[in-house]
Amino acid sequence: MRSSTIARQVSRASTNYLNNVKSPATTSTPQNLSSTDRAHLDAALRVDQAGEVAANYIYMGQMAVLGRDPKTGPLIQHMWDQEKAHIAVMNKLQVQHNVRPTLLHPVAQIAGFGLGAMTALMGKQAAMACTEAVETVIGEHYDDQLKDLASLPDSHPSVPLLKKVIQEFRDDELEHLDTAVENFSQRAPAHALLSSIIGGGCKVAIELCKRF
Ligand SMILES: [Fe+2]
Ligand SMILES: [Fe+2]
Repeated sequence: MRSSTIARQVSRASTNYLNNVKSPATTSTPQNLSSTDRAHLDAALRVDQAGEVAANYIYMGQMAVLGRDPKTGPLIQHMWDQEKAHIAVMNKLQVQHNVRPTLLHPVAQIAGFGLGAMTALMGKQAAMACTEAVETVIGEHYDDQLKDLASLPDSHPSVPLLKKVIQEFRDDELEHLDTAVENFSQRAPAHALLSSIIGGGCKVAIELCKRF
């Protein structure tokens, strides 16, 4: 295990939500945000929740096809387990900050499952190529989001916690990306085409979920 991974496991900001720690940081939202900051926070949490829903369904779709594979099954299950924690946290953040969920929730479920199952049916390497493409976009998305949220005042305790959670999830997604590459995503048939279609689809989905 890498030292960065061990360090992250010791202090995961998400445990505040997963262990139901009750404090102003986990139960209240800043009241005095500018309309721009509030809009950023709103869009961020709406799209993050939708993305984590889709990620869960992608891995569910992959497990439906490859779950019994002795090597690939446990790898996918591990990533899915992390996505389950991500969505649990995002659901709590969405309630805490009074953000309405996306109207595209059912689309995220169906598209995610379809994408996961379809690429898994193309083979293990194509499944990993799907993970590589999705996690690249999501990793970048979380990174961009940290810049958008930088102007939120750290004086409210929920804000620094939120930033730490997003950093943690970004690092998890980048770890999934590494897992995919280590497991030969780039040997998938038509890797470049597959990556650009899936990556492009993710970017469109992100923009749609911010708005709807
Ligand atoms: Fe995730
Ligand atoms: Fe992920």
